[in-house]
Order: sequence, then C-alpha cells, then structure tokens
Amino acid sequence: MCGIVGYLGKKKAVPILIDNLKRLEYRGYDSAGVAVIKDSTLVVEKSVGKLSKLETIVIPKDYPSTIGIGHTRWATHGKPSDINAHPHMDCKGEIALVHNGIIENYLELKEELIGRGHRFLSETDTEVIVHLVEEFYQGDLLEAVRSAVKRLEGSYAIAVVSSREPERIVVARKDSPLILGIGEGEYFVASDIPAVLNYTRNIWILENGELGEISPSGCKVYDLEGNEKKKETMVVSWDISMAEKGGYPHFMIKEIHEQPNALRETFRGRVGVDGLVRLDFKNITVEELKNLKKLYFVACGTAYHAGLVGKYLIERFVRIPVEADIASEFRYRDPIFEKNSLMIVISQSGETADTLAALRMAKENGVKVVAICNVVGSSIARESDDVLYTYAGPEIAVASTKAYTSQLMVIYLLMLLLAQIKGTLPIDKIKEFVEDLRKIPDIATKVLEDLEPAIIDFSKRYYKAHDVFFIGRGLDYALSLEGALKLKEISYIHAEAYAAGELKHGPLSLLEEGVPVICLATQGYLLDKMISNIKEVKAREAIAIGFGIEGTEDLKDVCDEVFYVPKVNDIYASVITVIPLQLIAYYMAKERGCDIDQPRNLAKSVTVE
Ligand code: AGP
Repeated sequence: MCGIVGYLGKKKAVPILIDNLKRLEYRGYDSAGVAVIKDSTLVVEKSVGKLSKLETIVIPKDYPSTIGIGHTRWATHGKPSDINAHPHMDCKGEIALVHNGIIENYLELKEELIGRGHRFLSETDTEVIVHLVEEFYQGDLLEAVRSAVKRLEGSYAIAVVSSREPERIVVARKDSPLILGIGEGEYFVASDIPAVLNYTRNIWILENGELGEISPSGCKVYDLEGNEKKKETMVVSWDISMAEKGGYPHFMIKEIHEQPNALRETFRGRVGVDGLVRLDFKNITVEELKNLKKLYFVACGTAYHAGLVGKYLIERFVRIPVEADIASEFRYRDPIFEKNSLMIVISQSGETADTLAALRMAKENGVKVVAICNVVGSSIARESDDVLYTYAGPEIAVASTKAYTSQLMVIYLLMLLLAQIKGTLPIDKIKEFVEDLRKIPDIATKVLEDLEPAIIDFSKRYYKAHDVFFIGRGLDYALSLEGALKLKEISYIHAEAYAAGELKHGPLSLLEEGVPVICLATQGYLLDKMISNIKEVKAREAIAIGFGIEGTEDLKDVCDEVFYVPKVNDIYASVITVIPLQLIAYYMAKERGCDIDQPRNLAKSVTVE
C-alpha cells in the first residue's frame, strides 16, 4: 500500500512531509517523492529508494513553501523507478498528484488521453488521473478532481495541488483509506493515522465517494455531487505503535482482518464484462497455455501450501498433471522437466532463496516460469517470465496470512482461466464459479465477524495443549498443513497435519485422551470418509474439533464442538476456512505470551539457503 501525506499551514512543508512519510515507512515502499509550490511554480522531487535518499535531495534546498504533498510508493503497476515514483504531473507541470490504489480502467483512459495529445512519462496507472484533472480544469481544482474521479474504475485515495491555486489541497477517496488532520491553523492529509499523530490527534476520516479541500480557512468535505458534508472530529488516543497497527495489538491480527480487502484488490480487474477471467500475461501466450501438458507449483512454507491447493484444483478441473513441491526439495531431487510445461513459483516476498533457485533451474531447462508474488520488482518477480501479483499490500508479520489467501485468489483465477482456455469446463460453469469467487471477500468479512469471538473462547481453553493435530482430506489436507504451520510457528505448540486417511497407518498411535484434533470437513464429496476418521479420533478419547460449511449438521453428531463457516462453494473453502485457523494460532499464541509478530528463530523472508 502506498503512503500519502499533505500539509498546509505556516511552517515549511518539506520537513513535515518527510517526517510524516517516515511514520508510514512500516507499510513498506520502494520510492518516495514530494511536491511543493515555490514562487507560484510547482516543484516535484522524487526518487526510487528510501526516504533518506529523498531527504538528501530536498532538505538542503530548504524550500520555503508551506504547502505540499508527499508519497511513498508500493509498486503495483510499473517497476520501482524515479519516473514511476509519485507525485505525477500534468502536461503543463501545473498540477501534481499522489495516489494509493489501483485504477482498473487506466489503459483505456490512457489511450483516450494520448489520443487527445496528452504526454505520459511513467508506466503507472496513477498518471491517468492527473491528466484527467488537467482536462477538466477550468479554474476550480475541486471541480476538476470531482469530474476526473467520476471517470475512474477501481480504488483511489488521492491528494492534488496546483500552482494555479497555491493555497489549496484537494483530496478524494474510494476503497483506499484517507484521513484529514485538523491542527492549530495547520492541516494534514494522510493515508493512515500514524502519519499525523506528532502534530494533531483531531482526525476526519474520509468515506468512500467523498472529496475534501484544505485551505488556510480550514477543511471542507463534499460528496460526489458537490454537497458539503458535516464531519465528526475523531480524537485519537492511540500511541504511534498502536496507530501503525491500525489500533490492533499486533500486525498479524491487523493483517488477518485486512484479508477481505486484500482478496477484493487481488480479484479486482481480473474478470471481464463477459464474466470470464482475464489475466495479464505478457510473455506466455494463450497458445502455450492451451498446449500446456504439465504444471509445477514450487514454493516454501505457507506459499507451498497454497501451491498444494492449486495442484488439487487444477488437476481436478483442468485435467493436466500438476506437481506441488517444496523448493528446497525440488531443486536437489534432479527433477524431470517435461516439454509444454510451466513452473509457477509462489512467494510473498519474492526473495526466498530456494524458490529463486528453483525458478532458475526451470529456466535453465527451457521451462517458462510464472510468479505469484506480492512485491513488485522483487528478484523472483524480475526473473520470472510473467508475474501474477497479489495485491495484499505489505505483509509485516512473519506469519503469512493475507498473502496466503491472496495467493489462493490468484490460483483460483488461474484455474478458471486454464479451464476456459483448454475447454475442460463449460462456459456457464466457469461463469458460475467466477460469480462464486466474486463473493469470497464478503464471505471472508462474515467469517471474521461470526467466528472471532468463539475462537477467542476456544483458544483460552486449549492454549496449554502440548500437541495439536490437524486432519483433512483433499483440499482440507492442504489446508491442515497451513493450519498446523500457523499454530506451531507463533505459539510454539507442537502441531502436526495429517491426511485423515493416513491416521490408521501410524499417527493414530499418538492420539490419547484430551489431545485436540482439528478436523477439517469442508469437502462435501469426502464428508462420509471424514466422519469415519473423526470417529477413529473419538474412539481414542481424543477431542474432535470440527470445521465445516454451515448446514453440515452430521459433524455435530461426531465432534466435541464444531465451527461453521458461511455457505461457500466448497472448491473455495480453503480461503475461508483458513481464517479461523489463523485466529486460533493468533489467540493461542497471545494467551501464551508469545512474540507474535516476530516469533523466535524465524525471519519474514528467508533469503539464505
Ligand atoms: C509462513 O507463515 C512463514 N512465515 C513462511 O513459511 C513463509 O511462507 C515462507 O518462508 C515463504 O516465504 P515467501 O512467500 O516470501 O517466499
């Protein structure tokens, strides 16, 4: 997620903009910039790299300007570079704009604007907005921004300044956060509360579809039709540390709650008006996808677990063989690379050494590689032939949550695209699956609302467990691996995952009275088998905690307790059912007083072998 700041007051703007951007550094970024107005001229200074680099450029110039906007960029469209950094300017250099979000229809807007003579400098989606504002500008910046945002599809939080109106900042938001800070004769714009806490605790939160203007006489907010809106002032009591976590005690729980939006952003723009999937491959042709004979999913840890879900679904619906491998095993087992195959590497950070090594092996063997990655410009993203980005925003907690569910979203979309291209599913079935997928972000919101209180209670009862087992079949087996990893890595409880049908081949000897067994039973076609396995668990006096889709009443007859997730197409059950498992890990670790965001012995990105 990018960071936006703005300032209008009596002090020099640049030091304040830089200071406020530093408060947003925790969100992650790859470039930064500011725009100020000096002698009725717009000055934009921006550079790829850290804020400290921008500081060395702007601080010595000691701009006297008391108005400005600033930005830290988390790249989504266009690699990290000076020219792609924000702020972006119109053709005449009179308007500067910063943006957080994704403009879905930027390509068509860009073609339209170029057709009317606008000159673009960057690869970003953002730049279309400032040229739209330029087109609509007829002496009133607020009116021009209002007209411009009405042409946008997607998400945006923007701040705009113009040398034509040197005492005014205009802002607008839809689906990306934006707040106004009300100081003593000075006013602030920010993506997030931490950025302004050093100056004011009086906040206005902009709602979707609202625009705002800041001038020396204060702040005003309007709706899209131009009607002024009265805003409640919120007085923030958080300290900086709490504010960086959005009021949550840890990044992990904040990121668990960010999943509905991460899923929405990752889905956004990837389904056409025909209701079919469209993924922006640049170097892999439809012909190559049509002739695909084999897929390799290769990744580590949680990302590998996402790949395993991909294996099950693509084999089932696309009918080609799929291997899912742990990268550190794959690269040393002298794998056989087949013709007409494709490797898909999955990595949140895009820097995992073993995954990068597997990618290079595939390319050395003439196999093209697609990355599912969360960091634009990362090593894995740069070395892959194509990248399908997750738009989860920076993931700070070591335990991966929103990245995993966003990876699943990309895998679901890929599965549907391949089924479409290879004709292994009827078009109406694909459209039905797409519509089921579109509902997932809202179902994720509901599962958080419905289950969090019960999981907190559950965790208080079981956090002293020494061993916890996770069992499941099919997609639920892949999910049990992720549930066990989440629990063990942050609570330090010994947690194991097993294919439920595997229990009688050995693990059953470990079950005894009081051992909690998480039984995942979301797959309708495997329910009877799972019920039999749960009975095996109960016969050993262990505790069976069932997870199923609401309506699966049979689970109540065999489990000690059951958690139901909202109705969902069971091919997508993993992305919803993982959420209560993440919550179990979080709240058990919290009860145990663990260092949740930084668990012992672990790093967020394993860049060494
Ligand atoms: C997940 O909770 C872990 N932090 C870890 O397994 C992680 O998924 C793995 O290291 C892969 O990281 P990557 O996605 O950045 O490649």
